[in-house]
This record gives sequence, structure tokens and C-alpha cells, in this order.
Amino acid sequence: MRSLVIFGATGDLAARMLLPSLYFLEYDGLLPADLRVIGSSRAEMSHAAFAELAHRAIAGRAEAYFDARIWERLQARLSYVMADAGDPASFAALATALRNDEETVFYLSTSPTLFVPIAEALGASGAAAPTSRIVIEKPIGRDLRSCQAINDAIGAVFSERRIFRIDHYLGKEAVQNLLALRFANTLFEPLWNKVSIDHVQITVAESVGVEGRFSYYDHYGAIRDMVQNHVLQLLCLVAMEPPASLDPDSVRNEKVKVLRSLRPIAGRELEKRTVRGQYGRGVADGHTVPGYLDEVGAGPSQTETFVALQANVDNWRWAGVPFYLRTGKRMAERASQIVIQFRDVPYSIFQGQDLLANRLTIRLQPEEQISLSLMNKTPSLEQAGGMQLMPLSLNLSLEQAFPTQPRRRIAYERLLLEALNNNPTLFVRRDEAEAAWTWIDGVVDGWAQHAMSPSAYAAGSWGPAGAFALTERNGHSWYS
Ligand code: BG6
Repeated sequence: MRSLVIFGATGDLAARMLLPSLYFLEYDGLLPADLRVIGSSRAEMSHAAFAELAHRAIAGRAEAYFDARIWERLQARLSYVMADAGDPASFAALATALRNDEETVFYLSTSPTLFVPIAEALGASGAAAPTSRIVIEKPIGRDLRSCQAINDAIGAVFSERRIFRIDHYLGKEAVQNLLALRFANTLFEPLWNKVSIDHVQITVAESVGVEGRFSYYDHYGAIRDMVQNHVLQLLCLVAMEPPASLDPDSVRNEKVKVLRSLRPIAGRELEKRTVRGQYGRGVADGHTVPGYLDEVGAGPSQTETFVALQANVDNWRWAGVPFYLRTGKRMAERASQIVIQFRDVPYSIFQGQDLLANRLTIRLQPEEQISLSLMNKTPSLEQAGGMQLMPLSLNLSLEQAFPTQPRRRIAYERLLLEALNNNPTLFVRRDEAEAAWTWIDGVVDGWAQHAMSPSAYAAGSWGPAGAFALTERNGHSWYS
């Protein structure tokens, strides 16, 4: 028998992502036959009440895919055991329930403040066996020190190989596809460097606000909530060297090298290379929406809801190539994309024509699309003015290429499956998380030292004016 134990099973992430993902894995027959799923939280709850909660969450998310027979199969795996991180003795029941398990995966879908108490209680109660694994959600800490403290404490119970740090961006199909695009084609790799690439842009823009998460979000802000993890992971996949293989350590070794090559941003560079913003009232998705400081539960706050940064990867491949990173809430649209801007042709024979440099755009959200902009001749009989040229795109829409793919998978489906199958490739290793914090801490400390508070931007816009200046200073502009 194997078990997946979900702590925080009555919470938001479980309802929105984890339980629906388990349903879809059941739907596709991908869950191990002997797997049971134990929900846990500090609330007293019957098995039936937990099943009812799961049913509601799954039916709401699965919509047309909801099939009563599949649900019954999943329901047969579900049970509930109360465990309160504040009362380690309460873990005894869980330890008893797991007594005969061959393998247990503990998924901590809880506040990060509970990671250590839960891991310690699992160790002390005997619920954690030498074969057990633990899955923890980002953010792992709030800075390098707190991240190390969490890693040390969890590491005292679970060895590093059995700690799975989730960054759900690594479970996204389009993010996985970056590896295929770079390393399953010969076309790009010879050009993938400072000789041919002028700069790189990574944008993860959300149109939503903080959505009732003010108390969490205000403690972290955009740089810790999004840049330290999702955005830097995207940067790593774009910038890393080809790994020796797809085994967990080969890929992660390459990512760590990128993180360690990030040039620290300090002193006067902070003003030039970083921008913080906080949204005010505005219009998003056609509706008037409140500003950050008017959100439910808000108090006065200097937390940023938008960040733009110019990162530099100081190594042979990328020396001198700016990586512009940008993420924010309440932006003009939900759009995540990576833009690889190639250099201008060295010399143009097309006098009087503007040649736009080639651009590879990898769109991750909302639609998955890869497009390559190329200069083309406009069909016509030339007159004295010579050939007319214009940029056109080669487009690859993954939705169109796979029209029979029934639905877009939730990133957590893949990650849950990988954790159950004991494959850590898509999870963040300790040194990776810590290298990312080292760089982020430099920026955050610099903001504090220089009293750099966030500039206001209107909800529904592309962020404060400084974000445009950041790229324009180098003669570049954002592609939205
Ligand atoms: C989470 C952040 O990790 O990612 C949220 O905590 C953010 O603030 C979310 O909204 C974005 O994820 P996605 O998959 O919707 O791009």
C-alpha cells in the first residue's frame, strides 16, 4: 500500500489544484492501483465530510469532465486523519494509519510557517519512514537565512533526495517544451548566445489582483512570490547549458550554474536595473477594480505587486546580453512569454528599408504558441524603389498542432505523478533554491538600504513608467 497524505487538505490549493489533479489522473488511469489519499488538517472532520468537500472541489473544476464513475474510484481511495502541527501528539493517529505503508508521500499544502513543525512532528511520531518523501510548496522561506533554516530542519527528517520542492511552473507543458525547443532541434542552439542574441525578455503578467490573499502576499511581494521561483526558473531554462542527460542532477546542476552566474545588483545599479510598483485603482478585464491598498484586509503597505529587473548572466555564453524580467498583478492582460531578440543583420543591402531583427516569441500563457518573426519580401513588381520588405511570422500553435488533445492539463497533475513516481527532475534542489535567494536578497536588501519604495501604477496597465525606462535606457522596448 502507498499513501499520499495532503496536509492543508481543506485549504484553497487542495481545492483548486491538488484534488482536481488527482481526479484527472484517476480519469486517465495514471494513479497507482494501490494508492490511497489521506486528507489531513487541524480540523476534526469525518471521512464522509472530507469526501463531500473533495467532491465539490472536483465537480466545480472538472465541469464537463466530471464522471460519477471516475469520482467513485477516487472516492474509494480517500480518507481523512486529523493532525495539528501545533500539537505533535496529534500525529500519532497518522503514524498508526501509515504503519503498513511501503511508501508515503507527504504533501504540505500549508502555510510555509508550518513546514518545519509538520516535518518535525512526522519524524517524532514515526509517521515518516526511511522511504517517505515530502513535497513542499514555494515560497521556501522569505530570504536565504529562513530558507536554509527550513532546509536544515526538514533535512533532519528527510534526506535531500526525498525532499521535493515544487515550483508549479516546471509542471507546465509549455515550460517543459522549452527543453524540447532548445535541445531537440539543431536550429537554435548554435545561435543561442551573445553573438546572435541581443537581449531576452521574460514576462509573467497577471490580470488578477491579490484575490483575498493579502495577508500572505503582503509579507512576500512580487519579487519573492514570483521572481525568486517561477521567473528565475524560466530564466534558467533559457540560459542553461545543454545538460548531459535528463536525469535529475544533470538538469539541476546546469540551472544552479546559471543562478550562480547572476550578477548581483547593488548600489547605484539598483535605480537603473530594478523597478518596483504597486497597483492603484484602475480598470482590469473591463471592470473598475480597487487598488492594492483597498483590497480586503489591506493596511498601509510598501509591498510591490510589480517588479521589473535587468538581470545579467555573467558567463561566456551570455556576457553583455540583458535579460529583462517583469512580473506583476493587475496588469493589462494575462500573458506569460519569453522573447528572444536576435541581433540586427550586420549590413543591409536593402537600402531605404527598415529591417526588423528576428525575434523568437515563446508564449506560455494563456495560449501556447511559438512564433519566429522573419523579414520577407512583399509580393510586387519592383519599381525604382527596389524590393519592399516586411516582417512576417512563422507560427506554431500547440493548440492547433494537437487539436485532439482534450484539455490543458493542470501543472500539478504532472508534478504529483512525478513525486509519486519518485522522480525529482522537475523539483527544485536545495542549492538551487538557496542560489536564487542569494541573488534576490541582494536586490531586496538594496531596496531597503536605498529606501526604494514602489511606484504607483494603474490597475490594468503595464506597470509604472520606470519599467519602460529600464529597457529604453539600453535602446530596447518591451514586447507586450
Ligand atoms: C503562484 C503565486 O505561485 O503563482 C500566485 O503565489 C500567482 O501569486 C500564481 O498568481 C500564478 O500561477 P499561474 O499558473 O496562474 O501563472
